[in-house]
Amino acid sequence: MTEAAVLGYGTVGSGVVEVIEKNAEVIAKRCEGLHVKYILDLRDFPGDPYEDRLVHDVDVILSDESVKVVCETMGGAGAAYDFTKRALMAGKSVCTSNKELVELHGAELARIAKEHNCSYLFEASVGGGIPLIRTIYRALTAERIESIFGILNGTTNYILHRMELAGIAFDEALKEAQELGYAEKDPTADIEGHDPARKIAILASLVLGKKVDYSSMYMEGITKVEPVDMEYAKALGGSIKLVAMCEFAENGVYAMVSPRFIPKDNPLLCVRDVFNGVLIHSDMLDDSMYYGRGAGKLATASAVVGDAVECVNHPGKNVGHCWSEEKVQLKDIGDLSFRYLLRVKQEGAAAAEAAFGCEAKAQEGVNGETAFLTAPVTERDFQKKLADLPAVIRYYRV
Ligand code: HSE
Repeated sequence: MTEAAVLGYGTVGSGVVEVIEKNAEVIAKRCEGLHVKYILDLRDFPGDPYEDRLVHDVDVILSDESVKVVCETMGGAGAAYDFTKRALMAGKSVCTSNKELVELHGAELARIAKEHNCSYLFEASVGGGIPLIRTIYRALTAERIESIFGILNGTTNYILHRMELAGIAFDEALKEAQELGYAEKDPTADIEGHDPARKIAILASLVLGKKVDYSSMYMEGITKVEPVDMEYAKALGGSIKLVAMCEFAENGVYAMVSPRFIPKDNPLLCVRDVFNGVLIHSDMLDDSMYYGRGAGKLATASAVVGDAVECVNHPGKNVGHCWSEEKVQLKDIGDLSFRYLLRVKQEGAAAAEAAFGCEAKAQEGVNGETAFLTAPVTERDFQKKLADLPAVIRYYRV
């Protein structure tokens, strides 16, 4: 039996304890078994079934040589960074769901783990319970990954899904998501696209084995999406979803987050509600798709515990990724070519069609406006032409 500790007894941390306890029998078939010896939290939990394992001082855990695996579910990049570093330096493997810390310091922490013959694993930091990271470093190892295109934020996918289904405005759908506990009280990171940007930065980093910085990425959130945009998308057979993508081209790497028109032939159209879905395009396999719960207590905890099992099975060894601290400079997305769903005032429709070409029309003359799909054009040329077309109300890349 391997002794483990859980840092942070919030939603995911309590989920980790629950998964280890409930699935103890299954876990024991796949490794020598996991036991939670300590739970670290500043708070007390009177009456909690695991109250006796609660400690308030991280040094109790770090100085206990019997603890081999630490599950960090505290979040943030402050104390979590310090505790993770110290645990790794003590030769304890760390498994986490903390995407903020992974995006910011993952390469450094992976190096420290390697230097101390233990592991830093973070499957749960991207796509919650969906095995995406292990797929990249374990399964697709004979593949040259060419692009990743995915819905990596459950909250915004829920909001857009509700706007589409019920025809409600963004604010109302956000309120609903908050009432259901999907969206945070401060939902900025989700609705402005920072959360999926962090996640695609982590995936891109792992593909490249170098560091992609999310803050240098083009990011656009969903706050400006209107129910009428959804209607146009529906009339064209698709929908609007917040997509995080990266493309590994010969001349460099492109990455961005923005709301996109998903046409009917794209399997991501079926990714609804709070679910996540990711399409990986690679040179031998072609497209492969990964779908599931990208958030939530047990789904996320399951991925953390899966990593812990991997650590138990590799005592004194480093497993995981090759991830150096060398930074990658992202290429300008102006080079990329897209089709666009354009929403335009009727009086400027002819000029917009002449400028971009029209592949399909959504509707003609509703409320004095119309929408159509353009022919492919580079982002750079699109923006140049757009400057002379004040009648364009909104656009979505396809
Ligand atoms: N806020 C995130 C989401 C949580 O909605 O997907 C999981 O990372």
